[in-house]
Amino acid sequence: MDARPIGVFDSGLGGLTVVKELEALLPGEDIVYFGDTGRVPYGTRSFETIERYARQDMSFLLEMDVKLMIAACGTVSSVAPHVGNDIDIPFIGVVEPAARKAVEATQNGRVGVIGTTATIQSGAFDSTIHRLASGVSVFQQDCPMFVHLVENGWCTADDPIARLAAERYLGGLKDQEVDTLILGCTHFPILRQVIAQVMGPDVTLINTGAEAARRAATLLKESGQCAPADKNRGRCRFFVSDAVGGFNRTASMFLGRDIREQVSRVDI
Ligand code: SIN
Repeated sequence: MDARPIGVFDSGLGGLTVVKELEALLPGEDIVYFGDTGRVPYGTRSFETIERYARQDMSFLLEMDVKLMIAACGTVSSVAPHVGNDIDIPFIGVVEPAARKAVEATQNGRVGVIGTTATIQSGAFDSTIHRLASGVSVFQQDCPMFVHLVENGWCTADDPIARLAAERYLGGLKDQEVDTLILGCTHFPILRQVIAQVMGPDVTLINTGAEAARRAATLLKESGQCAPADKNRGRCRFFVSDAVGGFNRTASMFLGRDIREQVSRVDI
């Protein structure tokens, strides 16, 4: 048993896809979330800058005495997974859990990957999928605008701008007849409905955030580090590096509850 919180970080709102799934799987766990909203997006930056930001995000969470670190950011997980080697608590990124799920899910051996420009350039999903299943064909597309749509709250199923962006980005992957699509940035599951409308009902969408949360739940159970068994509701605290207003609105909408009281702004 370990009563310390789980640490989750992302460039902004996307890591909430991990929080949502953690709350469903491990309702007794305390969670500390850091969203680097003052510096989002990460996915258009150099590999060196992404690594530096990731180290700063992790330092903040380590000061909060977390027991497990989740890089709930496709870009950090793809470009700088080695940052996890320098801390003395377990580290989970989103690439491997999502790649495993995609390999299990595909029927025709044609998997699409969408992510930020840095994620796609890193080739991390492509190489992980090929390590797990060399016969699977991988088709990739960067979708940098999706991050901005989410951060600005333009992510509902009926948003015409989101729909246009999805049609433009995803047309090539549809032509390649992928039957499984990895949402390789944790922001993208927040656009899930629009992406599903464009890809059609026969394409399985893999939620990287949810897969990472499942991996975290398995790891904590296996290591006996879950929250004390008598605790049935954990506390979630959210920290952001810029004004809290926009984060509050979109995060509350996505999590389905008002989180205003739990959000603070910090300088890291
Ligand atoms: C970004 O900051 O560009 C998106 C984060 C991610 O890749 O999950």
